[in-house]
Amino acid sequence: MLVARTVAELRAARHEAPGPLGFVPTMGYLHQGHISLVDAARAECATVIASIFVNPTQFGPGEDFARYPRNEERDLEMLEAAGVDAVLLPPVEEIYPDGDMTRVHVDALADVLEGARRPGHFVGVATVVSKLFHIVQPDRAYFGRKDAQQLAVLRRMTRDLLLPIEVVGCPIIREADGLACSSRNVYLSPDQRAQAVALSAGLRAAEAAFADGVRDADALRRIVTERIEAQPLAAIDYVSLSDAETLRELSGVVEVPALLSLAVAFGATHLLDNTTLTP
Ligand code: PAJ
Repeated sequence: MLVARTVAELRAARHEAPGPLGFVPTMGYLHQGHISLVDAARAECATVIASIFVNPTQFGPGEDFARYPRNEERDLEMLEAAGVDAVLLPPVEEIYPDGDMTRVHVDALADVLEGARRPGHFVGVATVVSKLFHIVQPDRAYFGRKDAQQLAVLRRMTRDLLLPIEVVGCPIIREADGLACSSRNVYLSPDQRAQAVALSAGLRAAEAAFADGVRDADALRRIVTERIEAQPLAAIDYVSLSDAETLRELSGVVEVPALLSLAVAFGATHLLDNTTLTP
């Protein structure tokens, strides 16, 4: 497995790689969620390239950029074992050259939900992913539905910028008790970790109600909210039921595919989860 620390090294390797080329961007501290994306790429592509880059521009001033968990050696072992051909692992100056001033802003989709909670976050995400797309020039790029809004923003960016890349959304990988795998789960204390199961339990309860015919948007949001509010260490950022395509908040009877998504804080750690409800 090639480990490229510069854009030039990655480009040289990319030049010789057989297609189709699959790309899995990550911020490292890998878990089974990331590896599932590599597996999906491996199954469909002759060459798989991953990236590990903790992107400073997607973190706000008070956020966890400096303390974001890192373990390069273990990450490289996991990617090699998963059959990745090359990894891009650049220092910040390589991606943001001195004096860098170009940003990619995807309008309305980026300003709600996580974008409202983290102003500027999706500008950072869209900017770095478009840079990575230009470096790697993949045929397909693999993202988790765990970050459903990120996936929607990046699909839209790829479409609007006419990039010849297929954006592939992959299922959410979970721990045995239902908690969605996340690099940030390591921040949780044992008590917080135990209570965090309420996120997925709430979503499963709403899915069951939906299957039983509950269609009122408020009622569906309430099922999730009540589950989480029963956990003393959990503080809800938002529980949202939005149009899965436009991310506009829904009211009344749900008649379109809907994204039921949430962000919940345990202390300084914000966890995300979601599911799609299709009438
Ligand atoms: P990161 O949080 O490292 O996630 C990298 C990819 O793994 C994303 O596509 C994310 O949705 C996916 N992923 C994370 N947890 C998952 C889970 N439990 N199941 C399935 N997929 C999961 O997302 C980012 O990095 C960054 O924003 C990035 C796109 C790399 C841009 O910096």
